[in-house]
Amino acid sequence: MSQTHDGTLTPGEVAALLQDARERTLLLVSPLPEDELMNQHNRLMSPVVWDMGHIAHFEELWLVRNLEGPVQFGEMPGIFNPFENPRSVRGQLALPRLADTLDHMACARRMVLDRIVDGDTGRADPQLLAGGYVYRMVAQHEYQHNETILQALQLKDEDGARYRAPRAIVPPAGRPVAADADGMVRFPGGTVHVGTDDRTAAYDNERPRHAVELAPFRIGAWAVTNGEYAAFIADGGYDNRSLWSEAGWKHRQEAGLAAPQFWEMRDGQWWTRSMDAETPVDPDRPVCHVCWYEAEAYCNWAGGRLPTEQEWEAAAGWDPATGTQRAYPWGDEAPGPLDANLDQLAFQAAQTGAYPRNVSPIGAYGMIGDVWEWTASDFTAWPGYQTFPYPEYSEVFFGPDYKVLKGGSWATRPGAIRNTFRNWDYPIRRQIFAGFRCALDG
Ligand code: AVJ
Ligand code: FE
Repeated sequence: MSQTHDGTLTPGEVAALLQDARERTLLLVSPLPEDELMNQHNRLMSPVVWDMGHIAHFEELWLVRNLEGPVQFGEMPGIFNPFENPRSVRGQLALPRLADTLDHMACARRMVLDRIVDGDTGRADPQLLAGGYVYRMVAQHEYQHNETILQALQLKDEDGARYRAPRAIVPPAGRPVAADADGMVRFPGGTVHVGTDDRTAAYDNERPRHAVELAPFRIGAWAVTNGEYAAFIADGGYDNRSLWSEAGWKHRQEAGLAAPQFWEMRDGQWWTRSMDAETPVDPDRPVCHVCWYEAEAYCNWAGGRLPTEQEWEAAAGWDPATGTQRAYPWGDEAPGPLDANLDQLAFQAAQTGAYPRNVSPIGAYGMIGDVWEWTASDFTAWPGYQTFPYPEYSEVFFGPDYKVLKGGSWATRPGAIRNTFRNWDYPIRRQIFAGFRCALDG
């Protein structure tokens, strides 16, 4: 990733960064009455007021307490500490009411801005402040919780009134995407670099940049669409044991999986819902709300496999012609509204090909935005990984329990996505905004 400046932010830029994050959080929750913000709609997700209080708690921890002298993450106990209070119990906590939560958020922010105006960075670890890192970390934390809130609101339908999404964007219509006859594009293999050494925004798990050796492979020129996925269903994919791994079949049976979450068959037509928009399934949009095991079975049906995360990242940003790595598929410029379907306000994925700039050097369309993409890989440390600044972001989750997702979704803010960004979740999860694309050797 090419860095044109050292990332340092002026006090005004810090204030604007944090204010933008807050305006979005408040916009997303604004359609909801207090009782719906207080309620835990699904045990996989928090009550929305918990996310809001936790956003303030995290900001106070890193931008107030931490500047008074290094603190350990676990040193700030309370109802908003995520490890003390796992998601499943957050509905039973004595959560503050909405007005007090908004007050908590505003008070934490006031303390932060007072310090910044005073130029008071106390006794903070210089590494934390260098390049504006800690401010982007706090902003990215709020962005990530925005996406978590949207997952909770997508699930909310089941117990009450639907969330009235403040839709402000209509994505462009789809366009044809160039590909080989099999819908794939080819990566020639060789030595590529993945990961980054950026210290202004990247998380510890994205570092360091390192070389990997890849065999030639092919990868879907677009993420698997609803139309393609419906063909897998129609062909009996969910009932064909031979397409599923042992763990996948066990889960398919136990959970009774038969279609993506939020799909419903009515009079011979699949319907789905994205937030408050209930529509016939659009065959030209990427499939969403499938778990890793469903992605695995689909790839087996299609005669392929999931890409490894290294393959995914190379397909998204490595230019084999020049031997250089891009921060985003289209280049190094931060995502704008013509580049990809990001930043939440469409409240759904766009049709394939809608963003013609969103093409990687090898011709893979849409690797950033629309839906997160499952990869074959477990979430593990890159060689040379060093925890920074706290182990509870990444390190405690490394291991075989989690699969890596890449690329971000329509619900991801642009500041929390890049080719090197790594997300992770359990292979059974479907409430996240995730789809996938297939790969093939050769
Ligand atoms: C990176 C999305 C897996 O939501 O658990 C939020 C992000 N970390 N607060 C999560 C996160 C701490 C994290 N994911
Ligand atoms: Fe958090």
